[in-house]
Amino acid sequence: MPSPRILILGATGGLGRALFRHFSPRYSTTIWGRADMDFEKPEIIPERLAAQDFDVLLNAAGMTSPDACEVHPEKAGLANVTAPKVIAECCEARGARMIHFSTDYVFSGQQYEPWREEDETAPINVYGRTKREGELAVLRACPSALVARVSWLFGPDKPSHPDNVIQRALQTDELSAVADKVSVPTSNTDIAVWIERLIDDHAGLGGVMHFCNSGRASWHSWAEAALEIAHRLGLPVKTTQVKPIKLDSLTQFKAQRPLMTVMSHAKLQNLLGGAIRNWHDALEDYLVEKYHPK
Ligand SMILES: NC(=O)c1ccc[n+]([C@@H]2O[C@H](COP(=O)([O-])OP(=O)(O)OC[C@H]3O[C@@H](n4cnc5c(N)ncnc54)[C@H](OP(=O)(O)O)[C@@H]3O)[C@@H](O)[C@H]2O)c1
Repeated sequence: MPSPRILILGATGGLGRALFRHFSPRYSTTIWGRADMDFEKPEIIPERLAAQDFDVLLNAAGMTSPDACEVHPEKAGLANVTAPKVIAECCEARGARMIHFSTDYVFSGQQYEPWREEDETAPINVYGRTKREGELAVLRACPSALVARVSWLFGPDKPSHPDNVIQRALQTDELSAVADKVSVPTSNTDIAVWIERLIDDHAGLGGVMHFCNSGRASWHSWAEAALEIAHRLGLPVKTTQVKPIKLDSLTQFKAQRPLMTVMSHAKLQNLLGGAIRNWHDALEDYLVEKYHPK
């Protein structure tokens, strides 16, 4: 069987870039950004997609800032619901496989146990609500689609929490981070590897599935882990200690954030047939590669 032609949406995003970095050496891979297909103009989508050859579409584009979504709910609706729905209709019509990325923020955050795919969703902000509506719209329009929920992404393609914390710690020893909000930091690089396995070995797999590393962390413990690794690697960070603060002490957010969105990845782990590594190991690999590449 010839390898599938892959179209990735999200050319300037952390996950989109990671997918492109992973797939482009081995597959015929195209990546599009907003300039190629603007989700705020869903009417252009069918014509744009009809002009492109692809067998698998990975949608890593969307409006991802909870605060921006809260302030611009109509734009969030176009980017996270309407455009993915139209894309799913196009994939269904041409028999292409669609993998659509979603979020742990579809959950309320009011639970201690990891959320399973079947658990009830109850998003508490516009971002989460539009992402959940997008999941449903995609699966209605293209029942064979896979909705891959991910959480707290990091990796070499775009700075995220650990990079920002290390940068701050190079300047100051006064750092604080929220300790009462937990999820699973997840490597974009690992996601790309898992997605390849699914494309190659599980062509018929659809529905919702959680894609995250093992373990759990708060923004606080994630920050301290990054600083400890950076210190061990010899970076001149001024501290490895971060002051724990509570989410409700932060006043700058426009959107409410869910407190506990750790997702169970038992389904993915079964499918891959081996243990999924802990986020800490993935973070260590990422930082070693970033600061001490071989
Ligand atoms: N980052 C996380 O921690 C996290 C957590 C949970 C779930 N997710 C989900 O994972 C997926 C990928 O996230 P990410 O972190 O890679 O996001 P990201 O870095 O914010 O990238 C989002 C991408 O979507 C594009 N985009 C936004 N609005 C668009 C529009 N109107 N038309 C076309 N493209 C548009 C952006 O382009 P521009 O640069 O032009 O805006 C960018 O390429 C998303 O579905 C997100 O909801 C992410």
